[in-house]
Amino acid sequence: MKSGILIAFEGIDGTGKSTQLPLLANFLRDQGYTVVETCEPTSGPYGRRIRELYRNRKQVSPDQELELFLRDRRQHVTECIQPALERGAIVLTDRYYFSTAAYQGAAGWDPEQIFARHDFAPEPDLVLLLTLTPEESLSRIRDMRGESPNDFEQKEQLEKVADLFASFPQSCIVRIPAALSVTQVQAAIRNVVQQLLVRKELSCSG
Ligand code: TYD
Repeated sequence: MKSGILIAFEGIDGTGKSTQLPLLANFLRDQGYTVVETCEPTSGPYGRRIRELYRNRKQVSPDQELELFLRDRRQHVTECIQPALERGAIVLTDRYYFSTAAYQGAAGWDPEQIFARHDFAPEPDLVLLLTLTPEESLSRIRDMRGESPNDFEQKEQLEKVADLFASFPQSCIVRIPAALSVTQVQAAIRNVVQQLLVRKELSCSG
């Protein structure tokens, strides 16, 4: 039985998810909420295998790649997300199944089929989709992280991924422009999350 709140951060690489997520977590903890911060790919066996693929995706077939993401997520849901929701926590996850629909969708899979294969995964209460153009994303990866883009991050690929993220119709998705300052993006995120918390409290008390 789910009683917590699940919030997923999504978006193409370089949008600042891993900066914004801990800032939101601390803000919520200061208000007395129990918060679990987590991410995908996880640090479990499937997640570690996925990280090995970063430099060379051709090591596995597209089928095997999709299978790895699904297995990693199944384990993540069973061992981390579901128990935390049952304890009543607010779970903040850096990536969730929308990433599979967008990235593996860009690699040729039908996003609808990918969504359909996630009946085991609780639907998020809110998806914070951070938006940035693929050009901005790649220049952030190069300049700020001092890294060259990995195989999941090539430009043509990122354009397809961004288009797919833009096309998803789920009502839990809120799009947040991510080209602003860290503080401005965080303010927009807090605003949306506060509205969610008010709605949840009203529905619990009414
Ligand atoms: P990322 O969030 O960038 O991890 P980290 O910051 O730890 O390097 O995710 C790694 C890459 O994996 C990213 O380019 C997107 C890709 N990915 C998928 O292709 N499908 C998925 O289902 C997930 C969760 C990630």
